Amino acid sequence: MQKTRQAMITEWLTYVADKLRESFNRDIKVAEKSAANDLVTEMDQWAERYLVSQIREHFPNDFIIGEEGCGDNVTSTDGTIWVIDPIDGTLNFVKAQNHFAIMIGIFQDGEPQEGYIYDVMHDELYIGIVGVGAYVNGTQIDQYSLESLEESLIIGNVMNFIDNRYNMQELARTAMGVRSIGSAALQTISVIKGEVSLYFSAGLEPWDFAAGYAIAESLGIKTTDHLGEKLSILKKSPVLIAYPNVHKQALEIIKQTN
Ligand code: IPD
Ligand code: CA
Ligand code: CA
Repeated sequence: MQKTRQAMITEWLTYVADKLRESFNRDIKVAEKSAANDLVTEMDQWAERYLVSQIREHFPNDFIIGEEGCGDNVTSTDGTIWVIDPIDGTLNFVKAQNHFAIMIGIFQDGEPQEGYIYDVMHDELYIGIVGVGAYVNGTQIDQYSLESLEESLIIGNVMNFIDNRYNMQELARTAMGVRSIGSAALQTISVIKGEVSLYFSAGLEPWDFAAGYAIAESLGIKTTDHLGEKLSILKKSPVLIAYPNVHKQALEIIKQTN
């Protein structure tokens, strides 16, 4: 019997997660990208090359957007597009050997279809299928409903709060408390698990939000830009992922940005 796309992706991600954990037993090459805290390792590059080669072998007509540049030069949202972040939270991978994830989002004609987030050190694979639901290691995830900012925790990038991007200090003051993990993937998972009501980032690349967007969508959690508009997987954008009522409340605060 032919394996389903979901079964294949699960196998690939499990293999990559094993290799990432194994890499902690040896020295790996680390290089700076745009700044001293923007790192890339040989494992980011290896993982993306591996995932891209599997997708090309099994789904030759699909398009690929990858953070490390192994994908295609995609300029239209037509067709099936895979969006890959081979290690999300590379700084955590290097410095903490914890709190990082592998992400794949699949979009059809610009619409989120499937999302995969593998929390490597907790061995948890989150899968969201739009119109069906979301699962962690095969168990269905409940749909939570967090109703207000005042009664919930929120999550985001510490520097975004310090710099007060998009009025984020007011978001922080309104909420019960603020948390941060250092991985867009795991911060999105925190929303999905109902631990926090909102994740806002002042700027995420398509590979940072594609998988989480699809999983959130499969659970009725809203994902938009800072104006409440639909995201495009072709461009970087501020990203707000939140339970519907909290999303509405947060947009009012974000829109008051000077
Ligand atoms: C980064 C992490 C971080 C977020 C950055 C991302 P990377 O991804 O998700 O939490 O604040 O915007 O670039 O570079 O580790 O894949
Ligand atoms: Ca990332
Ligand atoms: Ca990355």
